Amino acid sequence: MQENREPKLRPESIAVAAGRPGIVGQPLNHPVIAASNFLSGEQKGDNEPDAQGREYSRGDGTDTSEALEDAVGQLEGGRAVSFSSGMAAVSSVLDQLPDNARVLAPEDLYQGAAAVLDNGVRNHGWQVKRLPTAATDRWLGALDGADLLWLESPSNPMLEVADLPTICGAASAAGVAVAVDNTFATPLLQQPLTFGATFAIHSATKFIGGHSDLLAGIVVTTHDGAFDALLERRLLGGAVPGALETFLALRGLRTLPVRLDRAQSNALVLAERLEEHRLVQKVHYPGLPDHVGHALANATMAGPGSMLSFELAGSDTSTDIRLSRLELIATATSLGSVESTIERRAKLAGQEHIPPTLCRLSVGLEHVDDLWADLEQSFDGIS
Ligand SMILES: Cc1ncc(COP(=O)(O)O)c(C=O)c1O
Repeated sequence: MQENREPKLRPESIAVAAGRPGIVGQPLNHPVIAASNFLSGEQKGDNEPDAQGREYSRGDGTDTSEALEDAVGQLEGGRAVSFSSGMAAVSSVLDQLPDNARVLAPEDLYQGAAAVLDNGVRNHGWQVKRLPTAATDRWLGALDGADLLWLESPSNPMLEVADLPTICGAASAAGVAVAVDNTFATPLLQQPLTFGATFAIHSATKFIGGHSDLLAGIVVTTHDGAFDALLERRLLGGAVPGALETFLALRGLRTLPVRLDRAQSNALVLAERLEEHRLVQKVHYPGLPDHVGHALANATMAGPGSMLSFELAGSDTSTDIRLSRLELIATATSLGSVESTIERRAKLAGQEHIPPTLCRLSVGLEHVDDLWADLEQSFDGIS
């Protein structure tokens, strides 16, 4: 209903208005539909079957989950399928690869996706070639014969930027599928499908939900066959999102544009101040002019986002002590929420290649001067 409006709505308006029922006398937004079972219509009596022809929500969804899919689908420019977590979304794409598939993936990659790839190597003979995110020529050179390109941009946690228009364009011309994990950018800052990607993937647990209170994932595609295959994966795997989760994710999406604006402007200020701090050796943030992906991010994204990482002088131990002294910024693993969260990434299993003192900061909505004061006091007084 929303996409037929003229002129086409801007993303801020889509985030607010998409997926509303639009029925006079009914709630403005879909309430939580807590239903597994729907009346089939075969029963005698006056009861009508659900207007959408639903029978069972594992296969048919609910109005609540469809409203979320409608909204994210409109923002990404495709048809969306929601899942019970970001990892279920990731796996719904990767699980479709055949035995002996050839996959290109970035060296800097969310460890959950990397684990699925490692599993495919062990159990299905996949050949996975890992490449630096920003080495566009190497991606183009390795394209021939690949079954899937997996990309993450900006990457987690090094904030490297991929040349998505060039890579997706070349892959699409060669008939090679591309999946882009768009969690860090959000559908507001970057739309991979418009560059020719086959799948845009989100952990809706992060920015879309935005309040650290749900797990959900979403895959969006413009390919009808891929869409049907995703629905089948969800039906067979059973990784459907819960009723409350889809309701909360859509409610979170409604405020994503304003949350992101604030978080992003905070991130730029913190990145600039961190760069000047004597204990900070390097800041990774595409919004900084000296970041290697700055020009590319400017050209391909609507903004650099609110994720950054920085390397502290000292050791892993002194970094852990500093982080333990934070009072406002939460030391926590997840990201994209209203509160700022920080984590020393190299402490995670499988992340040993990350510089030992690298801290990934998901910048939230607090006052930027309070965030800076918290960082400064945590740095001070430890050699
Ligand atoms: C970039 C990225 N993709 C996917 C996921 C997985 O999402 P979830 O935790 O919702 O399963 C995460 C989680 O941290 C992530 O950071």
